[in-house]
Amino acid sequence: MSEEVLKQEKKPIIFSAIQPSGTITLGNYIGALKNWVTLQDDYDCIFAVADLHAITVRQEPATFRRHILEAYALLLACGIDTEKSPFFIQSHVHTHAELAWVLNCYTQFGELSRMTQFKDKSQKHADNVNVGLFAYPSLMAADILLYQADLVPVGADQKQHLELARNVAERFNGIYGNTFKIPDGYIPPVGARIMSLQDPTKKMSKSDENVNAWVAVLDKPEDIMRKFKRAVTDSEAVVKYGENKAGVNNLMGIYSAVTGKTNDEIEKEFEGKGYGDFKATVAEAVIEELRPIRERYEKFIADKAYLEEQYTKGAEFALRMSSRTLDKAMKKVGFIKKPRF
Ligand code: TRP
Repeated sequence: MSEEVLKQEKKPIIFSAIQPSGTITLGNYIGALKNWVTLQDDYDCIFAVADLHAITVRQEPATFRRHILEAYALLLACGIDTEKSPFFIQSHVHTHAELAWVLNCYTQFGELSRMTQFKDKSQKHADNVNVGLFAYPSLMAADILLYQADLVPVGADQKQHLELARNVAERFNGIYGNTFKIPDGYIPPVGARIMSLQDPTKKMSKSDENVNAWVAVLDKPEDIMRKFKRAVTDSEAVVKYGENKAGVNNLMGIYSAVTGKTNDEIEKEFEGKGYGDFKATVAEAVIEELRPIRERYEKFIADKAYLEEQYTKGAEFALRMSSRTLDKAMKKVGFIKKPRF
């Protein structure tokens, strides 16, 4: 085979997952999902809904079940194409929990204790500091290492967990010889960090008490318009990227992410115009970007049979691929080959 053909066949593998948290915000969409969609052409992408991670905090069963399916449908609506990228629900593929257990035994108490997310979440859920919350990063490491992922797109809040996955993989490889690919973080070429519309020094988050601070991908157009119109800016009344203009910078970042326009182009477009015009135009652009997603979502969520067909196909692929890595790792540790039933 020529080198050209080989190159075409082997694209780098990307793995990523998102927790089924009930709401996906415009920040999640621009910061992560929109990138996932474009990565599908240049990489072999594998995506999952990380439902096992979600039970590290208490979930109400009926709501949890609904959120998992909604997250799956919404990601399909955003543009995950299951013809290109296997897309599954984490709990459907038992290799994840199994490898996580093995990796737990190669992860030190001390290193998990240093995880800032663990420290934050144990403060927030002081009544439920469970072992799963503590071991969350080794499950995440299993997710990634099972697919021999080259690259993992993660936000700043997950970088420490990816670093842990690399350390554990290197440690395991050091003991047993090459078993896991050491994954790198993937930093998207464009990808603004989307901030709160009410306090643009804080990240946009659905846990913000002020509902005007964040936009959900499935928000109605009139709600999106209202939230942008109320967005906090400054008293300068000039659409220009700059210091002490966090609110305007954020709106420019959002506008740029959905239209592809550069900051220079945006500044020109709004020369001599006030913030009222600017905010309404940004809102319109966001509404038009999200409209087809909401429409596709409504169609998918109403078609449970289609969703089941898709996540079943995803789980079949994921099980086959991840079993190779799991079997290899377990063999190296010294387990006896599993009988076939
Ligand atoms: N922990 C990630 C989050 O909350 C979700 C996740 C689970 C993940 N497994 C993963 C992300 C593997 C990247 C790779 O955002």
